[in-house]
Amino acid sequence: MTGTGKSALGTYVDEQRRETIADRVEELLSEMTVEEKVGQLNQRSVSFVMGPEDGNEDLEAAIADGEIGSVLNAEGLEAKQHLQEFAVEESRLGIPLLMAFDVIHGYRTVFPTPLGQAATWEPDLAERAERVAATEASADGHHWTFAPMVDVSRDPRWGRVMEGAGESPVLGSAFARARVRGFQGEDLTEADTMLACAKHFAGYGASEAGRDYNTVNVAETALRERHLPPFEAAVEEGVATVMNAFNTIERIPASGNEDLVSGVLKGEWDFAGAMVSDWNSFGEQLPHGVAADEREAAKLAMLAGSDIDMVSEVLLEELPDLVRDGDVPESRLDDAVERVLWVKGLAGLFEDPYRYFEEERRKAVTLTEDHRETAREVAERSFVLLKNEGVLPLTEDTEVGLVGALADSAEDTLGAWAWGGEPEDVTTIRAGLDDHFGDVPYAPGYDLPGEVTAESLDEARDIAEEADVVVAVVGEPADMVGEAASRAHIDLPGDQRRLLEAVHETETPVVALLMNGRPLAVEWLDDHLPAILDVWHPGTEAGPAIARTLTGEVVPSGHLPMSFPYTEGQIPVAHDRLPTGRPAEDSEEDYVSKYLDVPNDPLYAFGHGESYTDFAFTDLTLASDAFPSGKALEATVTIENTGDVAGRDVVQLYVQDLVGSRSRPEKELVAFETVELEPDETAEVTVEIDEDDLAFWTDDEKWAAEPGEFDLMVGHAADDIVHTERFTLVE
Ligand code: NOJ
Repeated sequence: MTGTGKSALGTYVDEQRRETIADRVEELLSEMTVEEKVGQLNQRSVSFVMGPEDGNEDLEAAIADGEIGSVLNAEGLEAKQHLQEFAVEESRLGIPLLMAFDVIHGYRTVFPTPLGQAATWEPDLAERAERVAATEASADGHHWTFAPMVDVSRDPRWGRVMEGAGESPVLGSAFARARVRGFQGEDLTEADTMLACAKHFAGYGASEAGRDYNTVNVAETALRERHLPPFEAAVEEGVATVMNAFNTIERIPASGNEDLVSGVLKGEWDFAGAMVSDWNSFGEQLPHGVAADEREAAKLAMLAGSDIDMVSEVLLEELPDLVRDGDVPESRLDDAVERVLWVKGLAGLFEDPYRYFEEERRKAVTLTEDHRETAREVAERSFVLLKNEGVLPLTEDTEVGLVGALADSAEDTLGAWAWGGEPEDVTTIRAGLDDHFGDVPYAPGYDLPGEVTAESLDEARDIAEEADVVVAVVGEPADMVGEAASRAHIDLPGDQRRLLEAVHETETPVVALLMNGRPLAVEWLDDHLPAILDVWHPGTEAGPAIARTLTGEVVPSGHLPMSFPYTEGQIPVAHDRLPTGRPAEDSEEDYVSKYLDVPNDPLYAFGHGESYTDFAFTDLTLASDAFPSGKALEATVTIENTGDVAGRDVVQLYVQDLVGSRSRPEKELVAFETVELEPDETAEVTVEIDEDDLAFWTDDEKWAAEPGEFDLMVGHAADDIVHTERFTLVE
């Protein structure tokens, strides 16, 4: 691996270091036995808490015997130091271990979930969040995070949508790049950086029926246009590792899918880093029914081009014989090992295997005021005001009542996949409102996830009756989202809605705060409540961020990265749907593409997000209405803050290719930019559209933009387009 070609991985080290790593890798490879090589591909999970005295003799012996190349989930510096000593001092070649961990949205300082971060539409904020996460996690001895998840998904039933950037490959690619940059920094040998891992390659976001680990059926066009772009973006950005997905693609499990791994990732994109399986995904080729035994599973994974085996140990058990019998060429084994050793070299482990284990640094950089402030800022910018009929912002003298158990649950405020976080560090919504308004009368209203009683509802009603405004926190506890957390019904859990009905009956205005990991079906709330603010799972700084937003110190500026359907019956629902032969222009018409009982459009569209101020896009102009192939087209939008307070908005540009050799979406996000404006201030935002931005996966199995007419649209959301300009791409 040299890092040349399309992959930018090699740019993380200078020429001289590259040579040093190359020499070391070559030297090691020449000295290694087949068993030692296979050991580098074996990743073991060690228990979350493991001390030196825990009697892990088997693990120690396996490390000393060179059977383990990396571990995941090791906790505590002492344990990591101990394991590394075994690798470096007791194994024959002294190759250091890589320590991996799922650092998904912060570490000790927990940020909003990735879906919430995507709602900022500001990739730079996600980059800053990952810088903080990498600083804290690396100081706790982790070299490698299994993030970012860059799976594009338009199915909110799938619990893992909270880990990604939503439904758009354009937004998703921008966040993929930013998050890789954030984790890996500018120089991977710096102690505050981590190796990143783009996952899950590929198509996992399309798990059929939103059921986790399920089959994926995507056409080549959807795979190429929708699911692969964020991975390619991560590779271009220099991501060090990529993880296989659990699912099948074209009936072949992703881990053993040669077309995907060797063909696309390592072939077309020239990915130079290492490919890691998902948890036991090599082994799961047996239940998928494509491997008769572990030997075949190991062979399929290796021949596909996958490299590291997370926990199944099929490589450890079977690969040496497969190589000796000539069923897997030794050159393939060498290629995989070379990639792993390179990644270790890039992380600086050959110079100093203990460089991440400094207690002093850990103490100095963990949960600092600065990190908390960044977490608060990102949280504030992630909130999406779904609806506001003038109730918000609250004035300082508002008598606020608070209901909803989620308001007081630190653990749920952190959200799923926050293993590095501690509930006691969290300022909950309740604590945040207490700090701001004095002791706010509070009743939980329901037991999590959503059990109500006559008494709990009475208590909540009493709070509402005494208040000017009642803030009701509803939504999903953390364990209802993330991995293995699919839901067939995406409404409020249990009887939470009865709490809302109870407080609403008092006629005190109700502001609903939604805490959620996925789009929820909240039509009743939209019909009955004057204000709804989506705060996702906001992390450590939830309380201050929410108090400041409710009172107007912060003006909400988030926009949805994923459509919110009326009901799960509409799924999949996304902004970039294809036209049909029977468009439903008039809802009275028969024999057109529509439902009898719900609209085609979602309740809240992709890109939707209100503010305490108003923005007007007063103009959209194109530098030319003919755009010669190979050049860029400049589009300028004039935006004005027409309200009374300063605020931020997102200029969203969508495109439609009017006639193509394949049917093209009615509109798809093509570019976006955020702007901050004082009242009455006007700005011009100029965006360049390249031919590549108009390209799609053609019948010739390649990307191409076809000459012809296109509409460029600017809007406040996918369902709120205010100007359209037509241009022609000329050959
Ligand atoms: C399984 C998950 O699918 C993956 O995203 C995660 O990184 C691994 N487990 C390791 O925890």
